[in-house]
Amino acid sequence: MVRSIGLPKETKDGERRVALEPSAVASAIAAGFEVRVEQSAGLGAGFDDASYASLGAKIVPTADEVWSSDLVVKVKEPQESEYKFFRDGLILFDYLHLAAEPKLAKALQDSGVEAYAFETLTYPAGLPLLAPMSEIAGRAAAIVGAYYLAAGSGTLLGGAAGVQPARVVVVGLGVAGTLAARGARGMDAEVTGVDIDLHRLYQAHMEGTVTATLASSETAIAEAVATADLVVGAALVTGAKAPHLVKRDHIASMRPGSVVVDLAIDQGGCIETSKPTSLSHPTYIESGVIHYCVTNVPGQYPRTASRALSAAVAPRLLDLARDVNSERLVGALNVSQGKLVHPAVAKALSA
Ligand SMILES: NC(=O)c1ccc[n+]([C@@H]2O[C@H](COP(=O)([O-])OP(=O)(O)OC[C@H]3O[C@@H](n4cnc5c(N)ncnc54)[C@H](O)[C@@H]3O)[C@@H](O)[C@H]2O)c1
Repeated sequence: MVRSIGLPKETKDGERRVALEPSAVASAIAAGFEVRVEQSAGLGAGFDDASYASLGAKIVPTADEVWSSDLVVKVKEPQESEYKFFRDGLILFDYLHLAAEPKLAKALQDSGVEAYAFETLTYPAGLPLLAPMSEIAGRAAAIVGAYYLAAGSGTLLGGAAGVQPARVVVVGLGVAGTLAARGARGMDAEVTGVDIDLHRLYQAHMEGTVTATLASSETAIAEAVATADLVVGAALVTGAKAPHLVKRDHIASMRPGSVVVDLAIDQGGCIETSKPTSLSHPTYIESGVIHYCVTNVPGQYPRTASRALSAAVAPRLLDLARDVNSERLVGALNVSQGKLVHPAVAKALSA
């Protein structure tokens, strides 16, 4: 039975988000739970300790105290320094991305944590706890892509009178991809959207989110990427390791100084040359192409991102705290009693 809920300060590099804003903490307290907030957990998002304490939260000075709660809710997957807090029966609710985090998966299994992932929850439809951060990461992809194109090939997305606009290819036109496409279109780039879902392509085409659409295939992607200035990777198969849709030789065919933003990196990346980067060291160059593969892109917009995440998470947190078997948590449970129980995650980690 859950009596206490812990809200730790995030420890991932550059991460300034917090999972719950003060009003969400107040709802949990009103529902009868004790909420422990780690000192300065909300500061990066503009919520000081007093804003939580004045609503009844208990501010605790150490991570130890917050992790000793019955249920811990946080933003990013626990970092290695936090594995020591895992214990049998602890309920954890956060982003996990276990397909790309085998070490974390093992630590959760070995310790007996009941681990629920935001990104695989499918109630009532879609991926409602992933979508708000995908929205923010998608918008950010257009911004950082445009920024690094200046440093790289010196190309402006919108072109100029007498000069062609830049070409942007977005692979995966879901929530993140659509917002990235909209951002790039907003800066007057030429944007091609690639997806396996023809209905999504139809919608994007009709709504003018993209200038062209391509049904996903290796040939179509190779051709589009060869002439692209910016490639955004945003393909997802829920719970699974991201498929390598853009191959190494496609990247090698790009003009030097072109840019790749692989948002799917949190699931391992949908671009073969991608490897995870951090907010403090966001890029590296491979085959002359600048790669931006930050695994916590929304962390750089902590105010907006924390509020959006908190609004989505708060009702499901109460469901979980009241009844771990609630049907409103469908798809979220990843690790239970030492086993990987989400089929796509289990398959990804057994491959
Ligand atoms: N790096 C970050 O900080 C960050 C932040 C938020 C989200 N993300 C990640 O961005 C990715 C996309 O998330 P989303 O919410 O937009 O997912 P989504 O489910 O809304 O969209 C994924 C899209 O990929 C498409 N797709 C699947 N297989 C494909 C294929 N073979 N070819 C082309 N398209 C294919 C799907 O049809 C779908 O339209 C996820 O990996 C998510 O975790 C990363």
